[in-house]
Amino acid sequence: MPTTLITGASSGIGLELAKLFAADGENVVLVARSEGKLEELARQLRSTYPIEATAIPSDLSRSTAVEELRSELSRHSLRIDTLVNNAGFGALGKFAELDADRQRNMLMVNVVALTGLTRQLLPGMIERGSGGILNVGSTAAYQAGPNMSVYYATKAYVLSFTEGLREELAGTGVSATVLAPGPTETGFGADSGMGKFSFFQKAAMSARAVAKAGYAGYRKNEDVVIPGWRNRLMTTGVGFLPRVATRKIVAKIQDA
Ligand SMILES: NC(=O)c1ccc[n+]([C@@H]2O[C@H](COP(=O)([O-])OP(=O)(O)OC[C@H]3O[C@@H](n4cnc5c(N)ncnc54)[C@H](OP(=O)(O)O)[C@@H]3O)[C@@H](O)[C@H]2O)c1
Repeated sequence: MPTTLITGASSGIGLELAKLFAADGENVVLVARSEGKLEELARQLRSTYPIEATAIPSDLSRSTAVEELRSELSRHSLRIDTLVNNAGFGALGKFAELDADRQRNMLMVNVVALTGLTRQLLPGMIERGSGGILNVGSTAAYQAGPNMSVYYATKAYVLSFTEGLREELAGTGVSATVLAPGPTETGFGADSGMGKFSFFQKAAMSARAVAKAGYAGYRKNEDVVIPGWRNRLMTTGVGFLPRVATRKIVAKIQDA
């Protein structure tokens, strides 16, 4: 049975993705900091589906996290067929005023751990000629994000990295897909500060709907999955405007 590793599986989109992979008969490896929530989800998935579910607590903002995860996977004799890099967070506020450690941790989780885990697990997939990477980006990737500049930049990285990887992987049997959600009802809104904006609340999709779109797109080997017509319209429209215009619009609607 194939095994899927999902980071950020303790809540929101990652938790829903874990349920979808498990419902399809795949073993799952659940990674996040909240050990209790991961253990509970693993128990629930094992009792609902004929699969193995393993919880591996890890703080992905630590520079040793990827290496420690590698050791844990080999200790449990786990071979990963699909890697879902979903863990991530944002913070609303001016770059010069936001807590520096929080912004560094954001880079570590959203960019460094995502890249490190991909580097760790991809060679095995290429050797076997099967498997894939599903990276969770954001519609934030499509323009600069004043008052949330680091978060937007991390998601631009995820989009560019995954698209580049996809071309490198052509003909290997290994896929790379990016899921780019817009506002979604998860812990992200309250944690980042974005949840206070009415445009965010009005446009928010359910975590289940976003995960389902991402899961289906990954299975169909799509390059970029943007769930929801509003988000697809917005990202297409952004492409027709000069970047100076889109960043001024974002600065206006996302006033910190
Ligand atoms: N919700 C939205 O509006 C939205 C829109 C676009 C993109 N996204 C992206 O979707 C992804 C999932 O977020 P979500 O919306 O589902 O929010 P969420 O409910 O807050 O989930 C975030 C997940 O990331 C994990 N995480 C955060 N920091 C971590 C760390 N240091 N080490 C390990 N795991 C960590 C959290 O687990 P622990 O707290 O247990 O560690 C949690 O499982 C993120 O990459 C986010 O940027 C969200």
